Amino acid sequence: MDLKNNILPHALPKHIAIIMDGNGRWAKQQGMIRAFGHENGTKSVKETVEACAELGIENLTLYAFSTENWNRPKLEVQTLMKLLVSSLTKELKTLNDNNIKLAAIGNLQALPKKVYKELSDAIESTKNNTRMTLSLALSYGSRDEIVNAVKEISIKVKNNIISHENIDESIINEHLYTQNLPDVDLLVRTSGEQRISNFLLWQIAYAELHFTSVLWPDFTRQHLYEAIIEYQKRERRFGKTSDQLS
Ligand code: IPE
Ligand code: IPE
Ligand code: MG
Repeated sequence: MDLKNNILPHALPKHIAIIMDGNGRWAKQQGMIRAFGHENGTKSVKETVEACAELGIENLTLYAFSTENWNRPKLEVQTLMKLLVSSLTKELKTLNDNNIKLAAIGNLQALPKKVYKELSDAIESTKNNTRMTLSLALSYGSRDEIVNAVKEISIKVKNNIISHENIDESIINEHLYTQNLPDVDLLVRTSGEQRISNFLLWQIAYAELHFTSVLWPDFTRQHLYEAIIEYQKRERRFGKTSDQLS
């Protein structure tokens, strides 16, 4: 059965964020090395991006590499960086054909030069696309993002560009890597882990959370539809009472 038919088109989340987890365990289950899991994970990325664009999701943010992931074995980090470059090269045309704008959030300066260059070129080449914004979280850590925002704001206060009395939520928002994105409506994590792992702490303040035990390389569009259907059944009260909403 195609679960797509059960999705209400008028109540779509505006921003879906996904913690793509479980590549290593998936590979282990097949008796393969972790890199095999990462390679197969790229298929799920492609399917998810296409499914979101087709549905009319405006913003999709994918957690691809965390600040903590730099502590993995050097070889695995290299494999992930190579995979990123090859996927960008391979999929750039698809992004443009589908009118998808690529963006990146994170400490991008920490990426190897080649990755940074490939990424910047892809971002530049898709910048006028309007159907959906696909943001890749790379060398991303939410605490790093907040530290960075505090530094930028304090420099502006020092230089009298912002007065400290005027610091509010929107000023903080504007100084996060996600500045142009709306808050996350739906956060999905695969692989059965029920934690946030330093992802979008500020932006998920009122997100609906969806945890699935499916490992990322096994994640299909039907799993995405399942998450959206569950999201649409929830009552988002934002602190109000249920009666106030109707
Ligand atoms: C997610 O899969 C990919 C990245 C974090 C880069 P993992 O590599 O974390 O896979 P597990 O969690 O070890 O199974
Ligand atoms: C989170 O997954 C980061 C990404 C999916 C890129 P991890 O596998 O690194 O998270 P932990 O360490 O299990 O929390
Ligand atoms: Mg993991």
